Amino acid sequence: MPKAVRFSRYGGSEVLDVVEVDAREPGRREVQVSVVSVAINPGEIQVRQGQFHDAFPAHFPEGQGSDFAGVVTKVGEGVDFPRVGDEVIGFSDSRDAQAEFVTIDASRVIPKPHAVDWNVAACLFVAGTTARACIIAVDVRPGDTVVVAGAAGGVGIIATQLAVLAGAAVVATASEENHAYLRSLGAIPVAYGPGLAERIRKIVPDGVDAFIDTHGADNVKVAVELGVPKDRINTITDYAAKNKFRVKGAGMSTVEPREVLTELARLVANGDLEIPIYATYPLDRVRAAYERLGLRHGLGKIVLEVRPAG
Ligand SMILES: NC(=O)c1ccc[n+]([C@@H]2O[C@H](COP(=O)([O-])OP(=O)(O)OC[C@H]3O[C@@H](n4cnc5c(N)ncnc54)[C@H](OP(=O)(O)O)[C@@H]3O)[C@@H](O)[C@H]2O)c1
Repeated sequence: MPKAVRFSRYGGSEVLDVVEVDAREPGRREVQVSVVSVAINPGEIQVRQGQFHDAFPAHFPEGQGSDFAGVVTKVGEGVDFPRVGDEVIGFSDSRDAQAEFVTIDASRVIPKPHAVDWNVAACLFVAGTTARACIIAVDVRPGDTVVVAGAAGGVGIIATQLAVLAGAAVVATASEENHAYLRSLGAIPVAYGPGLAERIRKIVPDGVDAFIDTHGADNVKVAVELGVPKDRINTITDYAAKNKFRVKGAGMSTVEPREVLTELARLVANGDLEIPIYATYPLDRVRAAYERLGLRHGLGKIVLEVRPAG
């Protein structure tokens, strides 16, 4: 029987198990995908710990994961696209992607361009749609100076590149070890932490037009101190600061996922967007993968490699 990640109570990574499950046959307008790679995201930790119980309650035994890439193995009635054998990128809203097989509505997969690496393909949905939502929320324009706080993270690394592609000068906050990579993307790296506003003023004395916060801490406060207009400050994580300072809080749910995922896959295929993967784990080591993610330092994304491609 195929395997999938499940947890049967809220808790730390120790509640995660890889168990045998039935591979559900695709119903009308559904497809079954043999998963190659799955990305993991911090929000899954909060769901599993029960912090999002009111908004996103778990139904035990609960699965995990939204981002996956794989090969279509079966199609149900009424499916014109995809076909059996197609390589696809999937975006689940059922928390079931961390599995050897996912059965999903056919509208929730897009073609995986051949040039896009499997692991990168699996990273594009949650982080990518969120990054695009940030760019739209702060209305990045050519010639703008934009700060991306937490620029080395999964969302930040994509937001940084989308802002550069839009013609902005990007000041990217990150740990020193990630500065060279961010510089290679065309951004100006700066250390986060106390004194950030001063450091940014020195780098861009003419001011900051827009500010994207992917981390929290005091980033929204810093943005306000820098004089960034409030309708051009967006946080995806610090809702207390969003309410206090009356800035924006647009996340992934504010964009059309299929459209954005297709755009991002094309950018990757054309060599205009890259996603570093700083750690990979087999599905069986899902606990270790989340323990690494929970350290909240790294460059890009962590991926579960479910099976070898090909
Ligand atoms: N609202 C939504 O729709 C939505 C969607 C997706 C994610 N999120 C949330 O957005 C946040 C970011 O997600 P993610 O996937 O990008 O997380 P992630 O990949 O785990 O982010 C890790 C990054 O955070 C950076 N970091 C650590 N401490 C920092 C600090 N004090 N200041 C600035 N950066 C710091 C690290 O940079 P260094 O390695 O350089 O230290 C690391 O690269 C999470 O809280 C997540 O839950 C919200």
